[in-house]
Amino acid sequence: MSLTLGIESSCDETAVALLEGPRKVLINLIQSQEKIHSPYGGIVPEIASRCHIEVILPLIDKALKETRTGFKDLTGIAVTTTPGLIGSLLVGLSVAKAISYAHDIPFIGVNHLEGHLNAPFLEYPDIPYPHLGLMVSGGHTALFYITGFGHYQFLGATRDDAAGEAFDKIAKLVHLGYPGGPVVDQRARKGDPHKIKFPQGKVRGSPMDFSFSGLKTAVLQHVQKNQALYEDSQGPVIDDLCASVQEAIVQALLARCESARATKKCQTLVVTGGVACNQYLRKVFNQWGQENEMAVYYPSLLLCTDNAAMIASVGARHLAEGKRSSMTLNAVAHRPLTEPLPVE
Ligand code: KG4
Ligand code: ZN
Repeated sequence: MSLTLGIESSCDETAVALLEGPRKVLINLIQSQEKIHSPYGGIVPEIASRCHIEVILPLIDKALKETRTGFKDLTGIAVTTTPGLIGSLLVGLSVAKAISYAHDIPFIGVNHLEGHLNAPFLEYPDIPYPHLGLMVSGGHTALFYITGFGHYQFLGATRDDAAGEAFDKIAKLVHLGYPGGPVVDQRARKGDPHKIKFPQGKVRGSPMDFSFSGLKTAVLQHVQKNQALYEDSQGPVIDDLCASVQEAIVQALLARCESARATKKCQTLVVTGGVACNQYLRKVFNQWGQENEMAVYYPSLLLCTDNAAMIASVGARHLAEGKRSSMTLNAVAHRPLTEPLPVE
């Protein structure tokens, strides 16, 4: 049975996991930098890479110790190499290469999006193909038609901000802190989603593309116009604002999935990435799924956000197919999922 070490450091989470075979998670460690970036209202790339450097080796040591394994037991290493913050990606990739070289273990670079889209398989290994895959996080919002492992057809993506970024930027406007998604999710539970009508950002002529920058501007204008109301970030008006923003984002995401369902005549959808943690999103999507005989899958919360188990799982499957990365593989800040990583 293979034993794969997964390493993920593309953004602000340092994550390490060990998987037996492609699915059995022995350990899944995540050290978040959330508190460090919070005072800045967003991620500071230089700080992120420095934090990864400090944390990554102790985290790998901890994963090995807690599973009573050593480098000699590993059969492969999987590491996120794209897309992401270049300095952060380089930390994970350099560590993976060093362990690979020193212990003569094959390593494979993994596309972060491929990790997210396959995360639900860790818990639901029998999700049927073809299916639609909605990837919604702080860095990405994209829709794919997936015909098999490794076969991703691009359907649409955001033209500007990602859905999670919209949650984060809007939360920052009303002083709710960073990251905004979880707070908006909580506050919205007490609010009225129909209190304020915000735009859903349609892209003319592209029914499967997304746009969230107009929503951010609309919220900014609304808050500026009603400044006195929004001074107290504890007040109930913020609950209504959060619920209304969330409604606009969730309905925008759902409309694209509905277009994809109608076009592809597909009956399965996977929703993944940090925004897939959103409870209202899950409620609305589940209801839509029931009405349209669509099976909708989400990873559990810990596997929705950045983690290394999803990277190890994808890497283990590529390694089992005989693919390997070479020592010349470099980290790349932007690379479409439909462009496979070079392998030997
Ligand atoms: O997948 P992820 O950990 O990192 C990226 O690859 O971006 O996603 C983080 C994003 C953040 O924008 C965060 O605000 C959002 O996911 N998020 C949520 C929720 N939990 C996290 N958005 C809405 N509702 C949530 N409950
Ligand atoms: Zn992610």
